[in-house]
Amino acid sequence: MKENNLRIGVLTSGGDAPGMNAAIRSIVRTAAQSGAAVLGIRRGYSGLLSGDVEELAARSVDGIVNRGGTMLYTARCQEMYEQQGVEQAVNACKYLGLDGLITIGGDGTFRGAQALARAGVRVIGIPATIDNDISCSENTIGFDTACNTALECIDKLRDTMQSHERCSVVEVMGRHAGYLALEVGVAAGATAVLLPERHVEFTSVIETIRMSKLRGRRHHIVLVAEGVDRANEVAQHIHESTGIETRVTVLGHIQRGGSPTAQDRVLATRMGYYAVNLLLSEKSGRIVCLQGADIVDYDIGEALAMHKSIDETLYAIAQAAAT
Ligand code: F6P
Repeated sequence: MKENNLRIGVLTSGGDAPGMNAAIRSIVRTAAQSGAAVLGIRRGYSGLLSGDVEELAARSVDGIVNRGGTMLYTARCQEMYEQQGVEQAVNACKYLGLDGLITIGGDGTFRGAQALARAGVRVIGIPATIDNDISCSENTIGFDTACNTALECIDKLRDTMQSHERCSVVEVMGRHAGYLALEVGVAAGATAVLLPERHVEFTSVIETIRMSKLRGRRHHIVLVAEGVDRANEVAQHIHESTGIETRVTVLGHIQRGGSPTAQDRVLATRMGYYAVNLLLSEKSGRIVCLQGADIVDYDIGEALAMHKSIDETLYAIAQAAAT
C-alpha cells in the first residue's frame, strides 16, 4: 500500500448495527498501514458539528471486533437536513483538517454524506443497518446478526408455544421494510409472514392457520414486520376466528444488540478496507456495496435513487413451506 499522510474522519450515525465496530477497526488498521491518520468522530454528525473527536491509532481498536454497538456512539442529527447544518459540517471538516470522511450507517446517514459530497467534502459511505434496506447492497452490516438474534428469541418462544399449543405473533424490526421479517420468517418456519411491501388480508392468514391445524400442526408462529404495525390486531383476529390462544411478542431493540456474527464481521472488515482504499485513490461520493461475492462501489446519488424490492422467490418459498 502506498505511504501517505492523509487524515481520515470516521463516524457512525443512525441506528446502531452489530458489526459497526468491526468496520471502524478495519478502517483504522487499513489506514494505519498506509500511513494515514484516523480521527474518530463521536455521536455521528452531531459530534462533527460540536467537534467531539478522538485520534484512533491501531491499538485504540483492539478487542472490538466481537463487540456489538459502536465505540464511537451514534445519533440521528436533524441539523444535517438543513443547509446551515451542512455548511457547519463542511467547515468542521476543514477545521479538523480532514482529507476524507467515512460515514457508517443507513439511508439518513447517506443523505448527509451526499450533501457533504456536493459541498466538496471527500466522503465514502458504508451501509450498516439491521433493516437491510440499502438498495445498492445485497447485505448491510448488522442484518445477519439481527436475523440470528431474532431467530434465537423465536426458538425460545416456540418451546412455550408448543407446550401450550398456542399461536405466537412476533413483531420484528425493519422500519418501513420487510427484509428482516421475511428472512427470519423463512428461517423460523413461520406459518405466515406479514410484510409492509405485500398486502395480505387477515382472512388469508386465518385460512393458512386453519389449514396448518388441519394438517396436525399444534402451534403456530406468525411474523409481522414493524412496518405493518398491526401485531395486536392480527393476534386478536387469530384468537377470535380460530379459538387458538395467541400471544404477541415485540422483539424490539434486542435485535440491534449482541456480538456480530462471522458474516457481519467479515463484511464489515471488507467494507472498511475497501472504503479506505477508495479515499486513498482519491474517490469521493461513493457508497461501498456487496454485489454477489464482490465488494463494489456506487455513486451516492445513484445508490440513493435505486429501488430494492422483496425477494419474490423467497416470499413464495415462505408461503409454500408454511403449512
Ligand atoms: O433502522 C434501524 C431501526 O432499528 C429500525 O428497524 C427501527 O424502526 C428504528 O431503527 C428504531 O429506532 P430507535 O432506536 O430510534 O427507536
